[in-house]
Amino acid sequence: MSDAELLKREAAARALDLVRSGMKLGLGTGSTARHLVELLGARVAEGLDVVGVPTSEATRKQAEALGIPLGTLDEYPALDLCIDGADEVGPDLALIKGGGGALLREKIVASAAQQMIVIADASKKVDTLGKFPLPIEVVDFGVAAIRRGIDKAARAAGCHGLLTLRRGADGHVFVTDQGHLILDAAYGAIADPALLAARLAEVPGVVEHGLFIGLASRVMLAGPGGVTVLERG
Ligand code: A5P
Repeated sequence: MSDAELLKREAAARALDLVRSGMKLGLGTGSTARHLVELLGARVAEGLDVVGVPTSEATRKQAEALGIPLGTLDEYPALDLCIDGADEVGPDLALIKGGGGALLREKIVASAAQQMIVIADASKKVDTLGKFPLPIEVVDFGVAAIRRGIDKAARAAGCHGLLTLRRGADGHVFVTDQGHLILDAAYGAIADPALLAARLAEVPGVVEHGLFIGLASRVMLAGPGGVTVLERG
């Protein structure tokens, strides 16, 4: 396993220490969350009694294959913990998420949890959010007009940059688990993430964006010197 993967696994293992029998858990998406699900699967095989609510079809398949009991938010609308990765971790534990395209379900699941725990390697920690292009999930109708709306909203929040329609590795337009498209916004430094989040939420056709503000309670950040726990507030 590469050094980067080992760090992700360490962060995941640290978050797993918070999991107790009887918990209902939101299961994140992405390469770091994959480690978490794998480690959780091993604990379940040893008798840990939890129910997982996956944030994507990819995670659902992985968890199912490992025998982790799964449920939905309709069955379990209030979760104990949600453990997920992030593309960037900024001040006040504000996040950019959605690099894996699961931001909508991730935000719904994280919002349903008493606590969102983020697992990441230290490279994800930034002083200012925005180097990682911000994923914006939009409906598949009137995309050119939605782009104009996003540009205007972003300018009102002091941001501007290229919007790129996401494509998969096969070159086809990427479609989310909810059947939407993703525009990746290259804004660079986002001076006021809360303002940008509010403006983007007002654009008709924008389903969700990858700014997660006030959601993460703790971040398990794994670096060469071990895991640092960052807490909000
Ligand atoms: C998935 O949509 C994302 O929000 C991921 O949580 C995020 O991209 C982090 O992924 P990695 O753990 O693969 O870096």
